[in-house]
This record gives sequence, structure tokens and C-alpha cells, in this order.
Amino acid sequence: MTGIGIIGSGAIASVHVDSYKRYASDCQVKAVCDTFKAKADDLIANKALNAKAYDDYKRLLSDPAVDAVSVCLPPSAHAQISIDALKAGKHVIVEKPMASSLEECDLMIEASRDSGKILAVVSQNRYKTPVAKLKKMLDQGAVGKVLYASFDSLWWRGQVYYDLWWRGTWAQESGGCFMSHAVHYIDLMHYLFGMPAAVKASIHNVGHDNSECEDLGFADFDYKDKVIHFTCSLVSHGERQSIIVEGEKGTLSVPWAVSANKALPNGFPEEDGAGKKALEETYRAIPDLASEGHDAQLGNFLKAIRGEEPIALDGRAGKKTIELIMGIYKSAVTGKPVEFPLKPGDSFYCKESMIALMPRFHEKKKSVDNFSSSTITLGRDLGR
Ligand SMILES: NC(=O)c1ccc[n+]([C@@H]2O[C@H](COP(=O)([O-])OP(=O)(O)OC[C@H]3O[C@@H](n4cnc5c(N)ncnc54)[C@H](O)[C@@H]3O)[C@@H](O)[C@H]2O)c1
Repeated sequence: MTGIGIIGSGAIASVHVDSYKRYASDCQVKAVCDTFKAKADDLIANKALNAKAYDDYKRLLSDPAVDAVSVCLPPSAHAQISIDALKAGKHVIVEKPMASSLEECDLMIEASRDSGKILAVVSQNRYKTPVAKLKKMLDQGAVGKVLYASFDSLWWRGQVYYDLWWRGTWAQESGGCFMSHAVHYIDLMHYLFGMPAAVKASIHNVGHDNSECEDLGFADFDYKDKVIHFTCSLVSHGERQSIIVEGEKGTLSVPWAVSANKALPNGFPEEDGAGKKALEETYRAIPDLASEGHDAQLGNFLKAIRGEEPIALDGRAGKKTIELIMGIYKSAVTGKPVEFPLKPGDSFYCKESMIALMPRFHEKKKSVDNFSSSTITLGRDLGR
């Protein structure tokens, strides 16, 4: 029975608790922490947990009943508290984004290696049936050579969203919609296609005047044999999120859609009915995931702790996402394409030197400790 500690008792913490409760025969939440102890108390009461409440994470880390922790904190706290947890001998699963900088990612990976404890990074959208099926189809080469893909990470947040104390600042949130929202899709991009050679990007703030950071951005990733375009927004009513992959033999999309053309003698298109049918049959033949989202990823974390399967998304995978986002920010600031990898010594490797170069779109003037509502949406269900 794995003893779980939850560090940070805000909005995402209850998603973690609900998932752990689905594995009640394998784990139990033994401790919950928040600097506002009342929030830890409320989470314990609301979820009927038999757990201790702490207001100091170091005390939770010295609780022998805790074997593993979920780090559900604002991004600026992810690295130090994950490192302290690993050094205290606890396995760690940290919410997205993994950390504020590449330097922090490397220190976390080192702490995991030195302690022999697992470091996992949340990216629950890998565990969505349409994404998992798309991955299988691409790995099988179902559409032939991929020429181009586009990712729409379109979200909508009202002005007050940025009033929460840690949001809308480079120091605390560590970025705008690329860091906090498109982070999900950027993880999916390197999961599906690997790492690109370079990126050219721009960032903007068009609708949130209580945030230093971007609420709109565009990025073109150069893979040498294909191009991937990204649009990232926080001003898009309806939150239409999608992945479209254009291959030689057809187009595949999440939410699921398929089309296939062949050329008429003059090069104009006509539908390739047989090709389309074959792609549809391949998609249908791949089984749905038994479990999705946080449930599935925390299930993998628990199994990896017991040595039953490898960890699916470790610190090295999480770091790739941060590297791509830092490349986006560097390109946006310099106005030039940025090549990967970004190495130690680069201004965008360390948090302080990166922040010093970033634009402040607006001064953050309003700040609240907590909202009266803890309801959040986790984005669209990627088509299921
Ligand atoms: N995977 C997803 O889809 C998803 C969705 C929402 C949020 N998140 C991520 O989860 C993290 C938390 O987001 P949230 O929306 O739950 O934020 P939140 O503000 O609702 O909760 C964070 C909690 O951490 C507490 N806290 C801050 N510093 C602390 C410290 N040093 N020790 C103990 N407690 C501390 C705060 O008081 C707060 O209650 C962020 O990194 C966010 O990006 C992920």
C-alpha cells in the first residue's frame, strides 16, 4: 500500500485525490499540505480522507506514512519542493509545467537519479483515446510521410483569471499561455513527432491587462522534413483545440476526422474512398484506452513505484517540453529562429537570465490569495 502526500490543496489537487481514490486497494492519501492549512483541512473533509493536514511541506516530507507525493503547487515552487521530496526519499509526480527553467529541470533529474526515486511529470492528455490512436497510426506510418501538422491550443480565460497571486507573472507562473496551457500540446508534439531542429515564434498580449506574460502566440517548428505550426491563445471563445496531421496518404485529426485525396489528371483532388476507408478501419481496430487522463497517468505512477511497469513520462520527457517553450520565448524576444538543443550557458537556460529578457506586457496590479470558486475546466476532451 503506497502512502500518498498531496502538496498544494488547490484546484488540481482534488483531481489527483479523485484518481488516487480509484486505486484504493493500492494506495491511500495519508497527508495533505497547504500554506493555507484550512485548504488542506477542507480537501480532507470534502474527499473524506483519513489523512493528516500540514501547513509546512517539510513536515509532510518527514512523515514516514508518505512514500510518494503529488506536487500540485504554482509552477515556481515545483523544482525546489520536488527536489526536497526526492532527497527525503519520496517518489514524485509533479504537475505541469515541470519547472520554470531548464536548469531547474536538470537539478530535478539529478535529484531523482541520486535518490533512486521516481520523478514523473503530469501530461494527462497523452492518455486520451484519440491521441493514443493517432500515436499508433503515426508509428505505423498509416499516412505515409508527414508533411505538415498544426496544433491549435485555443483556450479562453476571463480577466479575473490573472488576479490569483501567482498567475500572470514571469517569476511565479513562469510564462503565459505557452507555459500554462499549450504545455499540454507541446508535450504531445514531441511525443508524436520527436524534437524539432529549430523554432521561429512570436508572443503577444491582446486581452489580459493584469498579466506580464503572453495570452497569444504563434510558433513554427522546423523538423527539416516537415513543419509544425502552433497557435496558442487564451482569447478563443469555445476553446476549439485540435491536432491536424497532413500526410502523403491522408489527413488525420484530433478530434477524430480523416480525409484522403488522390489526384485527377490535372492535379486537382478527388476523394480517395478506398484510402479513407482503410484509415478509418485502422483507427477503429485500435482499442480504446481502458483508463484516461489523470486516472491513467497516476495509475502508471503507482505501478512504476511497485516496479510493475516503467514510468511513462519521466523528468527527461518533461524537460523536453520546457526546452521547446524556452526556444519559443527566445525566438520571440530575439526575432530570430532558435536551434535546439538549448544548453547550459544559454540565457534561456536559467530562470533569472530568461526573465530579465522577457517583455512585461502589463504590470500586474491586482492580486488575490484565493478565489471563492475552485471549479476549473481541464480543456476539451480531445475528441472522445
Ligand atoms: N494538468 C492539468 O490539466 C492542470 C490543470 C490545472 C492546473 N494545473 C497545474 O497545477 C498546479 C497548481 O494549479 P492549481 O490550479 O491547483 O493552483 P491553486 O492556486 O488552485 O493551488 C495551488 C495551491 O498551492 C498552495 N501553495 C502555494 N505554495 C505552497 C507551498 N510552498 N507549500 C504548500 N502549499 C502551497 C496554494 O495555497 C494553493 O492552495 C499548477 O502548476 C498548474 O499549472 C494542471
